[in-house]
Amino acid sequence: MLSMLKNHTGKITRKEIWGDDYFLLSLEAPDISRESQPGQFVMVRTSTDPYPLLRRPFSIHGRNGSHIDIFFQKTGIGTSLLSQKQKGDPLEILGPLGNGFLLEDGTESKKVSLIGGGRGIAPLYFLAQELNKNQSKVRIFYGGRSSKDIPLLSKFKKENIETLCSTEDGSTGFQGLVTELFEQEMNSEPPSLICACGPDGMLKKVSQISEKNHIPAELSLESIMGCGFGACWGCVKKIKKENIKQWQKICEEGPVFWAHEIVWDE
Ligand SMILES: Cc1cc2nc3c(=O)[nH]c(=O)nc-3n(C[C@H](O)[C@H](O)[C@H](O)COP(=O)(O)OP(=O)(O)OC[C@H]3O[C@@H](n4cnc5c(N)ncnc54)[C@H](O)[C@@H]3O)c2cc1C
Ligand code: FES
Repeated sequence: MLSMLKNHTGKITRKEIWGDDYFLLSLEAPDISRESQPGQFVMVRTSTDPYPLLRRPFSIHGRNGSHIDIFFQKTGIGTSLLSQKQKGDPLEILGPLGNGFLLEDGTESKKVSLIGGGRGIAPLYFLAQELNKNQSKVRIFYGGRSSKDIPLLSKFKKENIETLCSTEDGSTGFQGLVTELFEQEMNSEPPSLICACGPDGMLKKVSQISEKNHIPAELSLESIMGCGFGACWGCVKKIKKENIKQWQKICEEGPVFWAHEIVWDE
């Protein structure tokens, strides 16, 4: 069954350490690289031992030829084991999974604001690269608690991606939440589309801004995932479609949903 579900063993070809807690791994995975869309994810087996048994979900951060990158924050046992992997190690990965951002939905030449909180920045780099290819004007809003939580800022600056940043402690950029920075800046250059990824509190606020200002928003949701491909129902969220509320699986129907479809308060 796993082979039908695109199970691959990819070799780690590059490892980068970003600050204390963030890591980038490049994996040789030609099939995943060819098929993947921004916003899709892979399920990664972090150990060959029986524990931890469950794979962990990671967004596809970028792709380069036959390689894909994942960018992750060390938060627990799985990501800690993953952070110890070295160049040349094999890694079992399943993917690409999920729906991804709706790039085909007329994003050409649009002004698109990408909002990323902490590790939520991971899929937005791939998205920015693809949007740039279709001539969209991209601005990234990148926020974290402190400068330690926005490690990719230097990478974006180096690649001339317009990036505005915020930190809650004011150690870099605007002092406050990334949504506050976005609200302050959006009037100078109103976007026609918002794409966001980050913690639920941030995404809920982005939903409110999107509704108030009539700007469509695509939000990538997180959930703890058992399988990643629709078998365990461990990742459900209440979604409203044509006024009917129903539980949907984030791994299959998402992780990206239109902001107006997400039911936050039940
Ligand atoms: C579709 C999707 C894409 C993701 N992409 C990325 C990415 O690109 N980079 C990245 O750093 N992280 C990403 N995550 C989150 C990542 O999967 C979790 O951080 C990881 O599974 C934690 O595993 P662990 O074994 O280290 O933590 P555990 O030891 O399992 O847990 C440590 C702590 O993190 C919490 N936690 C575990 N999984 C999640 C989760 N999915 N969401 C919220 N809290 C969680 C646990 O409740 C616990 O408090 C993504 C999650 C999803 C659903
Ligand atoms: S993680 Fe198993 S159904 Fe979504």
